[in-house]
Amino acid sequence: MKFEVALPYSMATTTFTYFFFSFTVLFSFFSFLLFLFRMKACCNCHTCRTYLTFSWTSHFNNLCDWYTHLLRNSPTGTIHVHALANTITANPDNVHHILKTRFHNYPKGKPFSAILGDLLGQGIFNVDGHAWMFQRKMASLELGSVAIRSYALDIVTREIQSRLLPILAANDAVLDLQDILRRFSFDNICNFSFGLDPGCLHPSLPVSPLAQAFDQASRLSAERAMMASPLIWKVKRLLNVGSEKKLKEAIRVVNDLAEGLIKQRREMGYSTRKDLLSRFMSSISDNDAYLRDIVVSFLLAGRDTVAAALTGFFWLLSRNGRVQSRIREELDRFMGPDEEIASFHQLREMHYLNAAVYESMRLYPPVQFDSKFAAEDDVLPDGTFIRKGTRVTYHPYAMGRMERIWGPDCLEFRPERWLQDGVFLPECPFKYPVFQAGPRVCLGKELALVEMKSVVAALVRRFDIRVVGSNSEPRFVPGLTATVRGGMPVRVSERRR
Ligand code: HEM
Repeated sequence: MKFEVALPYSMATTTFTYFFFSFTVLFSFFSFLLFLFRMKACCNCHTCRTYLTFSWTSHFNNLCDWYTHLLRNSPTGTIHVHALANTITANPDNVHHILKTRFHNYPKGKPFSAILGDLLGQGIFNVDGHAWMFQRKMASLELGSVAIRSYALDIVTREIQSRLLPILAANDAVLDLQDILRRFSFDNICNFSFGLDPGCLHPSLPVSPLAQAFDQASRLSAERAMMASPLIWKVKRLLNVGSEKKLKEAIRVVNDLAEGLIKQRREMGYSTRKDLLSRFMSSISDNDAYLRDIVVSFLLAGRDTVAAALTGFFWLLSRNGRVQSRIREELDRFMGPDEEIASFHQLREMHYLNAAVYESMRLYPPVQFDSKFAAEDDVLPDGTFIRKGTRVTYHPYAMGRMERIWGPDCLEFRPERWLQDGVFLPECPFKYPVFQAGPRVCLGKELALVEMKSVVAALVRRFDIRVVGSNSEPRFVPGLTATVRGGMPVRVSERRR
């Protein structure tokens, strides 16, 4: 005899809810225990206690500000947060050692590639060794070509003229400039990488499913790094619940789009197209998953960084009328009265503008810190011992605020510090590792600088942009790139000239 008990629908739902709720409570409890265990077992030093109890928040807006304070007070410019097994340095000699002299001892490492692995796969941003070297060579060749640079500038120019300027001109209400700049840079990097226009900066400011999925995927991947233990997200991923379920769905949207585009290119041909994907398809003809990984890495590398850099720039400019006037004087000297967009040649001649862009990223670097993992025991130039497997972090945000690197006026926004007799003089990249430095220096540095300067030239010439509301320093959302919590509200008005 066979008994079959058919649970009523509502009962099945209740049972499921009960189990799901119990699991969530138990899981949170387990995470909290793990957190307490780490707190007790790791270390009881003042720094670790302050970190683990979040008591730094009573004095500092951001974790990076607290680290800056600690690094300033450290005689070597290096600190160790034992609870995180993380050595953090703002010492240029150490940065030179990590990023160049002993480059092979400081790969990105397994913990980092595990965190971003589902989103980035085997893309350049997420791999070491031969896989990295192969992509680096291929990408350097492509990005170094004059043709791709002029292709990139064409994309940026079009986006400024047809979308960015009209949107700002049409709005006299308060706008979130950070949001506008994120939309702007997403349109650009998608056009550049895939030859696809997501249209995020259309006048209606639409919600783009791709941008949304990409944002969610990078945010949730970054949040993995903040969990008390990697075990937590790994178990959630295994069970496909909570944030890991959302992450999987967001990555699926990005993957579907990338795979669709690759398939379409294969069918329609790619040899005459200029975007990065089509260029890479000529070198990698038989591995679509790999192609997808490479191009998604570019999307991540080039999207939020440019928007973050421009947000920091306009925040500083809004408080520094003197710098704004000097930029305008220079623009007027090199551009005709009716010219809206500066040419590549004009941008190259504008040393003050270049200095102002560098100076803003000294104070607000888009990538505030960057970590590597020591492959073997080592000793840094300042005498700090590094045990194999330790996370080693260089901190551009703190370095830009160190008196011993930049002098007593290090907190001032002063582009003149980059100029000698009006000519821009670059600084040692290990003192200013905003684009990293050494063999793994940012591949998009020149493109990013041209994009930033084009935007600044076009906006500063035509508009007055004032940040409204709070006068306090920005608060950042924890993540891979600097994002101001709550956005950057501005009022934009046409200049009377
Ligand atoms: C102001 C804008 C930018 C800043 C501050 C910046 C900064 C950085 C930093 C700090 C790294 C090292 C990251 C790491 O290894 O963990 C990096 C790597 C990279 N960046 Fe940028 N970036 C910017 C814009 C761009 C753009 C627009 C692109 C692409 C068009 C790009 C492409 C890359 C790539 C491919 C890498 C990986 C290089 C490698 O691992 O060999 N970046 N960038």
